[in-house]
Amino acid sequence: MKTLVAYFSAEGTTARLAKELAGAAGADIFEIRPVEPYTAADIKWTNPLARCNREKLGGKFVPVKGKAENFADYDAVMLGFPIWYYGAPNIINTFCRDYDWTGKKVYIFATSGGSGIGKTAEKLAPYLKGAQIMDARVVRSAGELKDWTAKE
Ligand SMILES: Cc1cc2nc3c(=O)[nH]c(=O)nc-3n(C[C@H](O)[C@H](O)[C@H](O)COP(=O)(O)O)c2cc1C
Repeated sequence: MKTLVAYFSAEGTTARLAKELAGAAGADIFEIRPVEPYTAADIKWTNPLARCNREKLGGKFVPVKGKAENFADYDAVMLGFPIWYYGAPNIINTFCRDYDWTGKKVYIFATSGGSGIGKTAEKLAPYLKGAQIMDARVVRSAGELKDWTAKE
């Protein structure tokens, strides 16, 4: 079983979990980064004109820097991100849209300021064509994902 941990993190919380998870799972890791990095002002959601709000309201795709190499070789992808507006950030839709997910098992993990996972997986599903979504959770620690990493 070849596993990739692919994650986006604007403020570092999801990044810490993703790295711990990849270590525990013996997985490769890919950071999903926007071509244009987010500044602190860009993610200030209390400002209606901030980039994050414009992307959300405009349903915009967010160009991703680079590509996960040899994506076709992975059996499973653990996809991590912060909850933004009760779902995945637009950059996650963009990342998912650009790969062939046929036959892959997908495990979704998110960090949040308090929201649950809600309909995050359902909203992302149209961009994960052909994937089997195994689980989707909001987590506070990588240890909560032990059952994903347990060796068969
Ligand atoms: C634009 C934006 C929207 C957010 N929306 C939510 C939300 O709907 N619910 C929630 O609980 N937290 C929300 N948060 C908080 C983040 O989910 C939380 O701080 C997360 O752990 C940040 O992860 P990161 O450090 O990997 O970027 C939002 C944060 C930002 C920047």
